[in-house]
Amino acid sequence: MTELILATKNLDKIIEIKSVLDNLNFKVLTFRDFENFPETKEDKKTLEGNAEKKAREIWKKFQIPALADDTGLFVDALDGAPGVFSSRFAGENVTYKQNREKLLRLMKNIPLQKRDAIFRTIIVFISQSGEKFSVKGECKGYIGFEEKGKNGFGYDKIFYVKNLDKTFAELTITEKNKISHRGIALKNINKILKKFNKNF
Ligand code: IMP
Repeated sequence: MTELILATKNLDKIIEIKSVLDNLNFKVLTFRDFENFPETKEDKKTLEGNAEKKAREIWKKFQIPALADDTGLFVDALDGAPGVFSSRFAGENVTYKQNREKLLRLMKNIPLQKRDAIFRTIIVFISQSGEKFSVKGECKGYIGFEEKGKNGFGYDKIFYVKNLDKTFAELTITEKNKISHRGIALKNINKILKKFNKNF
């Protein structure tokens, strides 16, 4: 079976990505399958730069095709912040909750019609030979005034999906994957991955 490593230590992402890749017949490996799995510093200015850095580092180290995503939440009223800094919006080594609280605090006085935001994911796949493929996925929505829902991770409890008027945290993982930035990017990368799977 063709092997593929997910270049992330984020278990929440691994669950979402695996649930979409499952039907592709890859042997999906994660950091749990390796002892010395590197932690890539996300110091690039773009999602694409960070995603490529993560995937390429893993590919170089293990010589196995690698897949990485980098995601950002871009809020109109904050000129696109937290964007590429979404994971460390409230500082280094903060919790998801601290990031959400900072965002809600900054947006306390912003009316509903000005709370538009977009989640953007770039997925980079590095093939066995080192060739790079990248795809994008986006999901439009708006930031709520307080947390709602129990599922998901990161900003899910405060991100309302446009036209659905529910937060990501109110959706099941299957519902979220159908419409989310990462779900759409994964569908796009699926088409590319099929070409690399010897079983197809
Ligand atoms: P990363 O740099 O791709 O790991 O993602 C940056 C940050 O965005 C994460 O630490 C999460 O807080 C947030 N994030 C990424 N994906 C999602 C998602 O699907 N829902 C909510 N928040 C997310």
